[in-house]
Amino acid sequence: MSAAPFALRAAGVTRRFGALAAVRDVSLDLRRGEIHALIGTNGAGKSTLVNLLSGEIALSAGSVQLEGADVTDWSQPRRARAGLGRSYQRNNIFLPLSVRENCRLAAQMQAQQAWKLWQPAARCRFSTERADQALERAGLAALAGRVAANLSHGQKRQLEVAMCLATAPTVLLLDEPLAGMGPEESARMLELLRSLRAGHALLLVEHDMEAVFAVADRITVMVDGGVIASGAPEAVRADAQVQAAYLGGHA
Ligand SMILES: Nc1ncnc2c1ncn2[C@@H]1O[C@H](COP(=O)(O)OP(=O)(O)OP(=O)(O)O)[C@@H](O)[C@H]1O
Ligand SMILES: [Mg+2]
Repeated sequence: MSAAPFALRAAGVTRRFGALAAVRDVSLDLRRGEIHALIGTNGAGKSTLVNLLSGEIALSAGSVQLEGADVTDWSQPRRARAGLGRSYQRNNIFLPLSVRENCRLAAQMQAQQAWKLWQPAARCRFSTERADQALERAGLAALAGRVAANLSHGQKRQLEVAMCLATAPTVLLLDEPLAGMGPEESARMLELLRSLRAGHALLLVEHDMEAVFAVADRITVMVDGGVIASGAPEAVRADAQVQAAYLGGHA
């Protein structure tokens, strides 16, 4: 385990799209053993922040540290190999492939460079093992052989998380894994997230306040690209600015 106090640290992260500052001067710490919820209105910049942290898009200003290393200039694959995993707001799965194949590809893509000198068969065995572990963890082992197109919406969201787990991350950035789920599927996903808390740092983007307050150890609230509050759930719930800008009748 690394000596860095934070698994992931964002400092002054800013991203401009032309005149629009989609993310403005955001600082955020993720710690192992914690679920950090990121909430905010539509268009507040949550997904853009996830893309900035994961390395999918470049920062206009600020820095990102992963386990104490400055990864601001690292590509997304390099960050992934260093333990930064993510799932997408929109399903990112290959519908014609099986559940296991989707996870296997995720594992393989993440490990590609480290394994390029190995025989394909060994690489395949390695990624299949990783995939099966991830499916077991995500509660999808019984569906490993099913074609992804035939999964329910909730199962597809679970597969998204399993694909993230197949990359063996220490930090998971999950962009609305509960979106569109019914109560039973949500409960299952929340149980999975709770089980991942040990040993991982989680960032959970979520609109459902009941779910957020049920699992979050820490909450950050974004409005119009900036952070208006960050801290323990009860403090955030009581914050007058958060009440006015976002929570309204929710809290
Ligand atoms: N590639 C891009 N080019 C231009 N503008 C963008 C781009 N990506 C995002 N934006 C803008 O940045 C702002 C933040 O978008 P983002 O998707 O990060 O919001 P969000 O908080 O994830 O919203 P939601 O809750 O609806 O998912 C929006 O105004 C969006 O239109
Ligand atoms: Mg979003």
